[in-house]
Amino acid sequence: MTVAPIRRNILALTASRIREVTLAARGIDDLIALWFGEGDEVTPSFIRDAAVEALARGETFYGPNRGTPELRAAIQRYLRRTYGAEIDLDRIVVTASGMNALMISVQCLVGHGDSAVVIGPVWPNAENAIAAMGAEVRKVELEPQPDGAWRLDLERVIDACDATTKLIIVNSPGNPTGWMASEAELRALLAHARARGIWILSDEVYGRITYGVPHAPSFVTLAEPGDAVVVVNSFSKTWSMTGWRLGWIVAPPELTVVFEKMTEFNVSHATTFAQAGGVAALDQGDAYVAGLVKRYAEAAELVYERLSPLPRVRIPKPHSAFYAFFRVDGMTDSFAYAVELMHRAKVGLAPGAAFGPAGEGHLRLCFAASLSKLSRALDRLVPALG
Ligand SMILES: Cc1ncc(COP(=O)(O)O)c(C=O)c1O
Repeated sequence: MTVAPIRRNILALTASRIREVTLAARGIDDLIALWFGEGDEVTPSFIRDAAVEALARGETFYGPNRGTPELRAAIQRYLRRTYGAEIDLDRIVVTASGMNALMISVQCLVGHGDSAVVIGPVWPNAENAIAAMGAEVRKVELEPQPDGAWRLDLERVIDACDATTKLIIVNSPGNPTGWMASEAELRALLAHARARGIWILSDEVYGRITYGVPHAPSFVTLAEPGDAVVVVNSFSKTWSMTGWRLGWIVAPPELTVVFEKMTEFNVSHATTFAQAGGVAALDQGDAYVAGLVKRYAEAAELVYERLSPLPRVRIPKPHSAFYAFFRVDGMTDSFAYAVELMHRAKVGLAPGAAFGPAGEGHLRLCFAASLSKLSRALDRLVPALG
């Protein structure tokens, strides 16, 4: 049989190494899986009910590419209330998830011959989107500090940019590191991007999962309407809606018109009745989010208390997102070690290497789980890592 060619850069994309570990888990009974980036709570009922009511009203038809007017207005209200940001409706586009928002942004902003600078270690999907478009990924790694925290060297980001660079991707708060850029760092990135005419793609899906402050510094408040800045957000993490596939973009009006077109060619628009759930999440969800973040803060404390005394482990105290990303001294192959831990301790963790070479030597534990489940997992992990 003659097989017609498939684009080479698509074939070269690697599958997720986290999924690879999970495949190796088949047949292990009583495994506690903390490898994926999602909470273990069902979406709260006030959000589910709003979608059910939309279905009952017959909201099953095509809608606008940019999202329903109701959801776009709710996003505008949410950004005003939470960030004090006044964002015109023509800067808001609803997407079918944060990932869809990243992909559409990358499709519109980079192509063959272009390069994009990605600050890592980071969840690898955005750089895979860049590679899928045939552009070059230039990774600038955060620098590990002696206490296990991560630091951005802005000069290295600047040095990585040249005439081919169209985009800088920053994910703060970051998956897997929990690194949170300061407002000064975001301002410095913006000044650099403005001076060089480079887009910033800011992935802020963990922007509300912060411990001690109401939200992470955001380009929503720092960028002017005409700045070449795209802010991506998602309902997945903050409102426990991973399966809904719903997110949004804030961008300059000139770009949202183009996003609207690309949305038509990707998914046409986010699911109509899911968007009704999104309105409820934004308009009625503040108490829910506060409770969720409080619980995650307790979980972060528990994981830190149990793992930080271990002599081989270097773990920073998590201040944002819902991951413990810790170094294990002497571990050189995080993939093999994660598989070994799965068999020995019956706990599933993500290998640091899944987030690029700078993640090697680390493991990622998602603590968005009940405290009882986490305690059981830690009872197994502590002796195994000791
Ligand atoms: C950093 C980061 N960005 C974006 C996403 C995408 O989220 P979703 O596509 O569920 O909205 C994730 C999900 O894990 C993430 O960790």
